[in-house]
Amino acid sequence: MNNKKKIIDQYKKKVNEFKKYNEAYFNKDKPVISDSEFDKFKSDILKLESKFPFLKNEGSIKKIVGAKPSNKFKKIKHLRPMLSLSNAFNKDDMIDFLKKVNNFLNLNKKEIELFSEPKIDGISATLVYENGLLTKGLSRGDGTIGEDILENLKTIKSIPKKLQGIEVPNLLEVRCEIFIGKKDFIKIQNDFANPRNAAGGSLRQKESTETAKIPLQYFAYGFGAVEPMKFTTQSTFLKKINEWGFNINPLSKIANGINEIEKIHQKIDSIRSSLDYDIDGLVYKVNDLNLQKRLGNTSNAPRWAIAYKFSAEKAITKIKNITIQVGRTGAITPVAKVDPVTVGGVVVSNATLHNEDEIERKDIRIGDTIQIQRAGDVIPQVVSVDISKREKKSKKFIFPTTCLCGSSTKKEFSKSTQKEDAVRRCTKGYDCKYIAREKLKHIVSKEAFNIEGLGKKVIDQFFDLSLIKEPADIFKLDYEKIRNFEGWGDLSIENLKTAINKSKSISLEKFIYSIGIRHIGQENGKILASFFVSIKEFSKLFDAKKRQMILRSLVELDGIGETQVDAIENFFSKQINVKIAKNLINQLNVNNFLIKNKDGKFSNKKLMFTGGFRNMSRSEAKSIAENNGGKVLGSMSKKLDILIVGDSKPTKKKLDQAKEFKIKIITENEWNKILNS
Ligand code: IVH
Repeated sequence: MNNKKKIIDQYKKKVNEFKKYNEAYFNKDKPVISDSEFDKFKSDILKLESKFPFLKNEGSIKKIVGAKPSNKFKKIKHLRPMLSLSNAFNKDDMIDFLKKVNNFLNLNKKEIELFSEPKIDGISATLVYENGLLTKGLSRGDGTIGEDILENLKTIKSIPKKLQGIEVPNLLEVRCEIFIGKKDFIKIQNDFANPRNAAGGSLRQKESTETAKIPLQYFAYGFGAVEPMKFTTQSTFLKKINEWGFNINPLSKIANGINEIEKIHQKIDSIRSSLDYDIDGLVYKVNDLNLQKRLGNTSNAPRWAIAYKFSAEKAITKIKNITIQVGRTGAITPVAKVDPVTVGGVVVSNATLHNEDEIERKDIRIGDTIQIQRAGDVIPQVVSVDISKREKKSKKFIFPTTCLCGSSTKKEFSKSTQKEDAVRRCTKGYDCKYIAREKLKHIVSKEAFNIEGLGKKVIDQFFDLSLIKEPADIFKLDYEKIRNFEGWGDLSIENLKTAINKSKSISLEKFIYSIGIRHIGQENGKILASFFVSIKEFSKLFDAKKRQMILRSLVELDGIGETQVDAIENFFSKQINVKIAKNLINQLNVNNFLIKNKDGKFSNKKLMFTGGFRNMSRSEAKSIAENNGGKVLGSMSKKLDILIVGDSKPTKKKLDQAKEFKIKIITENEWNKILNS
């Protein structure tokens, strides 16, 4: 009897604890234990309940349920997408950026004015003002759709709720970065890993009274939709919104030319640690908003801005071993296993050695003392070897010539560079289990299927257990089996199910990118999707004969070259890839490519350019054509609708062919007239 009472007491204690976790997770969105700990805790209690039937009299935790957390915030579409930034890590990268901007705008080496701003390491948010009143506040979300966090943002006192001053636009979307001051963070640091996490956690509280407890700050740095648009430069935009009541960063300033860029960079880097907020670099923006508009964006970053990161943090350590890693394209990458060392606040125990040639060139050996560096989120790299510390008996590292799967490897000959590739690759594909595993990780990644809760670690776990062997298996998971594994329970399984189901509906461009054809990245995925439009048409590539015909017309697409065509042929000529793609399609709902700008000036038209233009670069002309709904071909075809002939050195052959095919030919002047009409 005594024993029974003890069990009941223990049970009650556990249930009370469980209630606390449940409340923290579901109602406060501030979990105190991890999902898997939560599930384990719950299943332990359930086990107790079934083992001791007399506990029934105490009620059951089965009746305790929380609301679903993922629908906590309303989803709202951003008026303009929130893009990310490309990175520069050194002077050369910045020179390259300046050159690209210059070429795109056809400026002929004229120096272009930039605006330099600290890159705040916080959480981005968008504020929408209608007739001067703050009406919406959104998190970034996936860049297209954000979450409604207005009430929480309103708790930040320095965010204006009503704009003061003259000439306030009817509609104004302001982008800003929310952060916690370093000093304020010290007071709450027990709860969070770093200031950035703390800011994120605070902004996502269900109760805004919880947000209000943490002292959040912000700097405004950009705009989305503005009506009427009266700003002309980034610098005057910031000055204006500052007058209207927004906080802007005082370290921002105009920058001209690479020398000034470097000077500012060094200066800010040197005072970085004395600032009360974390910054991880400087953002350089083309100051003139008209030029920004002309430059436009690539798939996820503007061409008019770049984040120049501060130099990498370095540390000294020792190589314990050198192993190889197989990537999703079969690339064999040597990895140094090093004595764990802290670099910029993160413990590092692996560093990449890039490839065989790099090891050879730096003569890197097991046992060597090395310097490593970590820049941004990239994998740490080996910078140099301290030969003076090398042991006498150390031997040269011999690079393996077989893959971890046992198959042979080879260095391919690159048609574009006419050289042997530096990278050695496994000659197999999905039939190499190391490649297969990486391909699966690629499929679930953010840019591809974006399945939350199915990250790299879970793929490793499920792959080892043979639960997922190929992409289609993701959609046929045996959840009852998973429930029995350590770390899995009702909550984590429900979340995983929801995320997987959601990802079943996918755009054609993402599908093409996801299946992991070499040389087909996001941008090429889009180009191909615009060509095929439907998965039905794309699936014709599975048939060898049809494929040959299709590949011949693919070369005509601007952006798709011989390298890509060879890669597509190579991919689909392997039966295993065709089978895997078919199985995957059977599980999905692949949506047709949406033609943007159906009513654009060049909708449904195929265009080609020849010769140089007086006032715009070829890239800009191409981007204008595409923004107006047109498709740009890279080589002559009977299907071409318009050939646009620039004044400077047009190709005679193209002109002759166009005449022969009776294709409409227009001059540079006529092109400009159409654009201005
Ligand atoms: S401009 C079109 N300026 O960095 C993209 N971003 O990596 C414009 N950030 O999402 C971004 N400080 O959250 C810009 N002065 C600044 C910034 C800044 C921080 C963040 C922002 C953005 C991310 C891009």
